Amino acid sequence: ADSLHAAAARTGLAYGTAVPVERMEDRAYLAAVARECGILVPNTQTKMLSILTAPGVEDFSETDKVLRLARANGQRLRGHTLVWHDGIPAWAQPLLARAGAYQAESFLRRWIGAVAGHCRGRIEAWDVVNEVLAQGEIRRADGLRETPWLAALGPDYIDLAFRILHEVDPKAAGTWNEDAVEQGVPWMEARRTLVLRRIEGMRARGVPIHRFGLQSHLASPIPIDERQLRRFLRELGQMGLGIEITELDFDDRAFPADIPTRDRMVADYARRYLDVVLDEPAVLNVLTWDFYDPATWLNGHPDRRRPDGLPQRALPFDGAWRRKPLWHAMRKAF
Ligand code: XIL
Repeated sequence: ADSLHAAAARTGLAYGTAVPVERMEDRAYLAAVARECGILVPNTQTKMLSILTAPGVEDFSETDKVLRLARANGQRLRGHTLVWHDGIPAWAQPLLARAGAYQAESFLRRWIGAVAGHCRGRIEAWDVVNEVLAQGEIRRADGLRETPWLAALGPDYIDLAFRILHEVDPKAAGTWNEDAVEQGVPWMEARRTLVLRRIEGMRARGVPIHRFGLQSHLASPIPIDERQLRRFLRELGQMGLGIEITELDFDDRAFPADIPTRDRMVADYARRYLDVVLDEPAVLNVLTWDFYDPATWLNGHPDRRRPDGLPQRALPFDGAWRRKPLWHAMRKAF
């Protein structure tokens, strides 16, 4: 059958999407998931916010729906995300803010033990940490974002989380998932350097890190620097890491309203990006952050709404499940 996953699989890649909690009963949506995808990632269903709904509660009802869907379709799964500055339930925030290193570590062990234990054997790769680099001006020499985890545990929280996952599910690939490391601007190049240095250190310390995830929330008019991007990916590959595109989509705010023009510009940009990334043999999977325009998170994000108020055309299918130029660009890039 002609689908993104079929095209990806022909070159040894897998294609998939994030699946949102709101669409788990939507038949057209689920049919498209079954047809187009070889791998899935829960949008929110394995985040702390979705599972630790109250003190002492571990609610896997939404997680289980995704596990069942993937099993029914014979699809692989990624896990997202064990440690994140965002998505910490409101009840846990004051607790973490007051926690000393010992309590914070116990909390982390218990949480990773619960979620990665529940999903053990089903998840090929876990985003162990997500978005750990600071946004904007870099204030710390290590470039790390100020988070409750950093405050309680220091920079070692990253190593610790990878080690805990490895104890709980040794077969799951430990992945560092990061945003804003793809495009050709100096501040992103600085982030790439921070990533490479930290991974070198982790490797030297024997930390079980196996993959790096490029979120790939692309946006115009930021350019791609092919040479810098290739060098970054090559260095990751040479360190023995697998690479994934984990959350591809396109924020088209800077593109004109006209739909055919906009769709073509998005597709052309994505094609240029994919052609560079997919040249790197360490790349394993390509996932989009949803795959159907009406479901994109971008329209709900205050900083990412288009100034003309039109909905974003970020993803490979439109609202009528028609294949957009982006779908064709992705298929050709695979
Ligand atoms: C987003 C979800 O799509 C939203 O539904 C949720 O409200 C907030 O998080 N990078 C990530 C994802 O790693 O977890 C984010 O997902 C989108 C940006």
